[in-house]
Amino acid sequence: MNSQILKLAQIVFHFIRLILKSLLGEALAKRKLTEMYLDVLFEKSKLSQVAPPTPKEPILLAPERVSDLYVHLPEQFTLLTERELYALISLFKESNPAEVLEIGCFKGGSSYHFLLNSPSTTQIYSVDKSFSHVPTHIMKELEESKRFHPIETGSTNLDVNPYRKKFDFIFVDASHEYDDVKSDTLKSLEMLKAGGTIVWDDYSPGYPGVYRWLHEFKDQGHNVLNIQGTSLAFCRFI
Ligand SMILES: C[S@@+](CC[C@H](N)C(=O)[O-])C[C@H]1O[C@@H](n2cnc3c(N)ncnc32)[C@H](O)[C@@H]1O
Repeated sequence: MNSQILKLAQIVFHFIRLILKSLLGEALAKRKLTEMYLDVLFEKSKLSQVAPPTPKEPILLAPERVSDLYVHLPEQFTLLTERELYALISLFKESNPAEVLEIGCFKGGSSYHFLLNSPSTTQIYSVDKSFSHVPTHIMKELEESKRFHPIETGSTNLDVNPYRKKFDFIFVDASHEYDDVKSDTLKSLEMLKAGGTIVWDDYSPGYPGVYRWLHEFKDQGHNVLNIQGTSLAFCRFI
């Protein structure tokens, strides 16, 4: 009788352990993702205190979401450094966007990586005043995906009406002029869904228009962060 009670107690204990493990395990995994991601990549890099570039320092990524991160194109297809590309794509993958907008395509390097690192349902819109710099074979791949949508216009002339609250992720990487990057940001805010992310490139004193605007935007109360060792800044809009 005693051994039967013991066996029953063991079985009950086993199930309680399984339930706790699945509940706590999930909670721990979630915490790990957010903490690792923000701590390692972003937390120490407030916009007001830009860390000096440390390109050789490895970027540790949150493994659950970005382990299958692809950076394929050689450098000549993008002006982003390898570190910036990794940071941009890890942020992109962590955001898991369904609708993406890029302002500034150039040779298609960032659009191509968005394509490469997203499921077949993700749509990628790209604004540029000209797509003539995109090499033919890259454009072919982008077009064949049927989820790349080029919008040929100067970004300050872009009509936001068809795109209001459409995008989950916007990458602002076009003109460096203060008035233009301000306009690109304000238009992006109209086109961004709640909870969406905007990333800017060229946050650096070398680009005073972008630098001044982003500080001004931050001073308006937006939690803009610089990604350490890169010219990328980003903000999540809740
Ligand atoms: C830095 S490149 C973009 C690089 C690309 N995002 C990448 O990472 O591979 C900037 C692009 O913005 C475009 N551009 C500059 N000013 C613009 C404007 N006012 N409207 C639209 N496109 C603009 C240029 O034609 C150029 O192709």
